[in-house]
Amino acid sequence: MFDLKNVSYFYEGKVKALDDVTLHIDRGQSVAIVGANGCGKTTLLRLLNGLIFPSSGTYTFDGDLVTRETPANTKFAKTFHRRVGFVFQNADAQLFCGSVEDEIAFGPRQLNIDESEIRRRVDDCLELLDIVHLRQRAPYALSGGEKRRVAFACVLALNPDALVADEPLASLDAAGKKLVVDLFKALHGAGKTIVFASHSEELIAEVADLRFSVEASAQ
Ligand SMILES: Nc1ncnc2c1ncn2[C@@H]1O[C@H](COP(=O)(O)OP(=O)(O)OP(=O)(O)O)[C@@H](O)[C@H]1O
Ligand SMILES: [Mg+2]
Repeated sequence: MFDLKNVSYFYEGKVKALDDVTLHIDRGQSVAIVGANGCGKTTLLRLLNGLIFPSSGTYTFDGDLVTRETPANTKFAKTFHRRVGFVFQNADAQLFCGSVEDEIAFGPRQLNIDESEIRRRVDDCLELLDIVHLRQRAPYALSGGEKRRVAFACVLALNPDALVADEPLASLDAAGKKLVVDLFKALHGAGKTIVFASHSEELIAEVADLRFSVEASAQ
């Protein structure tokens, strides 16, 4: 599904963040990206999600090359962002609507999905993340952990084939952590591909079937 070959990445053309990374992830795999602070985990996930592109080397998604030149209006570009969902390290970066329910409905609305189906997905995702009580609240006024649950709900409302999550347990309490561990297990069991960066040995042990260390490739 995801195929990186000899990928290097430099921020602003000079700060080296990834050095010669080769990584293949099959459909249905659950992969933990590990390594010390600053080794390039977030950079790698942003690349997989098509937010940035390799400075050298290639990124292929299901056989299609993902490059800066991939035009946004192609069928591939449109389906790519529906198929790969991304939960950011900082949940603030992805919440901007007036209410939690509008925030969750935003993605499906962009896809012109039926309003009745959108309502069903919003209700399901609110239940799944245990945030029904937050439905009318403004996302910007939530706590860090609440925001993270909303960010997960937003991504799952799109029913992506692959979930890419950066530090998925950050700012969650014990109940929130357990919820994410169980959610990942369920998604993995349902055949979804999961790629996540984490320092949590517990999450890695519970859900990863492959552990990829960026450390070895950087510097
Ligand atoms: N926008 C940016 N501009 C310039 N350099 C950056 C930028 N973002 C990250 N870097 C640098 O790229 C390297 C990799 O950063 P990255 O955020 O991918 O690390 P990380 O493994 O996710 O770290 P953490 O565990 O702290 O989240 C670091 O040296 C960082 O300073
Ligand atoms: Mg990071």
